Amino acid sequence: MDTFGVLLFLYGLASLHLTHSNLCTIEDHFNVMDYGATSDGYTDDSRAFVEAWNAACSAPTQYPKVIVPPEKTFLVNPVIFHGPCDASTINFEISGRLMAPKSPSLWDGKDASQWLGFKDVSGLNVDGFGSIDGQGKAWWDQSCRYHPQLINCTKLAPTALKFISCNGSSVSNLNFVNSSQTHILVTGCNSFNINNVLIDSPQNSPNTDGIHIHSSQQLVITNSRIRSGDDCISIGDHNSNIQIANVECGPGHGISIGSLGKSRNYVNVEKIHVTNAFFNRTTNGARIKTWQVGRGYVRDVVFENLVFYSVKNPIIIDQNYCDVRDACREQVTGVQISNVSYKEIYGTSTTDIAINLNCSRSVPCRGIWMESIQLTSANAGRKVTASCASAYGQEIDVVPYPCLLD
Ligand SMILES: *[C@@H]1O[C@H](CO)[C@@H](O)[C@H](O)[C@H]1NC(C)=O
Ligand SMILES: *[C@@H]1O[C@H](CO)[C@@H](O)[C@H](O)[C@H]1NC(C)=O
Ligand SMILES: *[C@@H]1O[C@H](CO)[C@@H](O)[C@H](O)[C@H]1NC(C)=O
Ligand SMILES: *[C@@H]1O[C@H](CO)[C@@H](O)[C@H](O)[C@H]1NC(C)=O
Ligand SMILES: *[C@@H]1O[C@H](CO)[C@@H](O)[C@H](O)[C@H]1NC(C)=O
Ligand SMILES: *[C@@H]1O[C@H](CO)[C@@H](O)[C@H](O)[C@H]1NC(C)=O
Repeated sequence: MDTFGVLLFLYGLASLHLTHSNLCTIEDHFNVMDYGATSDGYTDDSRAFVEAWNAACSAPTQYPKVIVPPEKTFLVNPVIFHGPCDASTINFEISGRLMAPKSPSLWDGKDASQWLGFKDVSGLNVDGFGSIDGQGKAWWDQSCRYHPQLINCTKLAPTALKFISCNGSSVSNLNFVNSSQTHILVTGCNSFNINNVLIDSPQNSPNTDGIHIHSSQQLVITNSRIRSGDDCISIGDHNSNIQIANVECGPGHGISIGSLGKSRNYVNVEKIHVTNAFFNRTTNGARIKTWQVGRGYVRDVVFENLVFYSVKNPIIIDQNYCDVRDACREQVTGVQISNVSYKEIYGTSTTDIAINLNCSRSVPCRGIWMESIQLTSANAGRKVTASCASAYGQEIDVVPYPCLLD
């Protein structure tokens, strides 16, 4: 390089640096404190959050970022952050603590299905080491599941954080505690990552799924620990290409595909891959659950590298699921389950049936593949068994054995 070249090179570096620092100027940051948040933990700060969001969402910058600063607590009433936004990427960094209102009456006249939501936002990254506390106790105390005797018990309670209709988005590094119902719900999203989240609510809290996925594609859940009163992760009626890896579940109800087809509807669930999951004292491990009245299919599913510690139903398919009396008498087509593999699975079962494939009589399970499975009883001196009904496939090196029909 001659002198001129060197100068050009240095100039290039300098301008690069300038551009970079321009991008990081304060106009990119929308701190809720600058929009009037009190952060006293009992005044409603939702307006400041919405204003910071609206400013970021319509900002003419490339990388707008909403900031919820650390070491502060914000009471936030139910709110939806709407898109689409101007920038193709928008960040929402939560370092402080967000708290939901304690009293269900705060939802009077509002949509009781949600607390915080993002709707029609793409390129959204919700990140930070803060926490999202649903303060769900008052909702749990009036839930129909555990208090059916209450005249106005509630079936529906707010999901802590909903992503409704999105592309290319993520949530990472956050702590979720005590949601009044589901902690994270992803619906109508294409390409979504959930990484390194911690979810924690009591074992006896009703319907507190960790993560629920509905009508979505290309979803990845990794490196997360979920303790709750219901499903660790549940996969609903219309989903494809879901990968789950390195998760720890328990207490709770395990990882569940379903329940599917509740309203006699058509379901399509395919390409689900669960690997490296540890289940600690959950009621189920790898579960597929469909209502007899449903239609459609579940196919191309892999459960592998699973470890169970004192799990009630480690491997279970229940196609005879119906928790409403008389609603399912009529035998309709049923959901077709096919091409499901279970590989490299070890651990202990607290019930005697460690493998329970209870498939539909009208549409049997086809192409079940079981390989390298060792399940024993959690209770010293007891033996476990496998039970299969209408389940066809092959097995190699599986204990307990035998089960599948050829
Ligand atoms: C997501 O992408 C699809 C297909 O490109 C598009 O139709 C839809 O509007 C996008 N949704 C959002 C919220 O950006
Ligand atoms: C139940 O409903 C009654 C009548 O609508 C109302 O007075 C009461 O406050 C409600 N209780 C709860 C716990 O919501
Ligand atoms: C979650 O709720 C339970 C039951 O109300 C409570 O004991 C626990 O302290 C709560 N956790 C947090 C982090 O507030
Ligand atoms: C299971 O979870 C309990 C806490 O609920 C913990 O004390 C125990 O160490 C865990 N077991 C294993 C094998 O990790
Ligand atoms: C079964 O599912 C696996 C995993 O999704 C897939 O790779 C394979 O092609 C499927 N096999 C058939 C016969 O569809
Ligand atoms: C299979 O489902 C039927 C119908 O619900 C039930 O009666 C039976 O006990 C189940 N079998 C096993 C082994 O769980």
